[in-house]
Amino acid sequence: MTFNTIYRALPLRFLTDTLELRPIELADLADLVQLANNKKLFDVLARLPHPYTSEDGLYFINEHANGAEERVWAICNRNGPMMGVVGIARNADGHGELGYWLGEQFWGRGIGSQAIGALMDEFDIAAPECELYARCLQSNLASKALLEKVGFEVTGEQHGCGQHDAPTFTFERPARDSFFDQVAAE
Ligand SMILES: CC(C)(COP(=O)(O)OP(=O)(O)OC[C@H]1O[C@@H](n2cnc3c(N)ncnc32)[C@H](O)[C@@H]1OP(=O)(O)O)[C@@H](O)C(=O)NCCC(=O)NCCS
Repeated sequence: MTFNTIYRALPLRFLTDTLELRPIELADLADLVQLANNKKLFDVLARLPHPYTSEDGLYFINEHANGAEERVWAICNRNGPMMGVVGIARNADGHGELGYWLGEQFWGRGIGSQAIGALMDEFDIAAPECELYARCLQSNLASKALLEKVGFEVTGEQHGCGQHDAPTFTFERPARDSFFDQVAAE
C-alpha cells in the first residue's frame, strides 16, 4: 500500500539550509500549544481544534505524531524551538496526504517553501514511485501557492475540507518515476 511505503522510507529527521525537521516530542508540548492556539490556524486547517489546549497537544503528540497513520515532523530553526508542523497522513484511499502549518509569526518568510520543498526532495528519493495528495481551501492563497511551487497540480474542486464547509481545491503531486517515464516517452 502506498502510505506504508512512504511511512517506512522517509527519514525521521533531516536538515535544510537553515532548518531542521525532526520528530515531535513531549518536550515540544508548550511550544506546540502556544503556536497552535490561534483562530487563524483553525480557520484554514482541516482538523485543528480551537481553542487548542494542552490535552489537544498531548493527544496529537501521542496518537498522531508518533503513531502509525501519519509521519510528522516539527519544523525548527537548527537547534531552535519548533515553528510549525508538517505531516503526511494516510488518506481514505491508503495514499499519502500532505498537511502543514506554521505559527503565525513565521508566515510569509519563505520558511514553508524551504521546509516543504526539502521534504518533497526527501520524498522523491525515498518513495519515487508514490504520488502524493493535498487539499486546501480555495481562499487559502498562500497554501495554494506553496503547493504549486513544490510540484502539486490542482486536480479538482470539492465542497468541504475536514471541519470546514467551504470551497476546496484538491491536488496531486505525480510520482517522480512517472515524471521520468513521461520525459522518456517524449
Ligand atoms: C501555508 C504556509 C505553511 C505557507 O508557509 P509560508 O512560509 O508562509 O510561505 P512562503 O513564505 O514560503 O511562501 C510560499 C508561497 O506562498 C506565497 N504567499 C505567502 N503568503 C501569501 C499570502 N498571504 N497570499 C498569497 N500568497 C502568499 C508566497 O509568495 C510564495 O509563493 P512564491 O514563492 O511563488 O512567491 C503558512 O502561511 C501557514 O502556516 N499558513 C496557515 C496554515 C495553513 O494554511 N496551512 C495549510 C492548510 S491547507
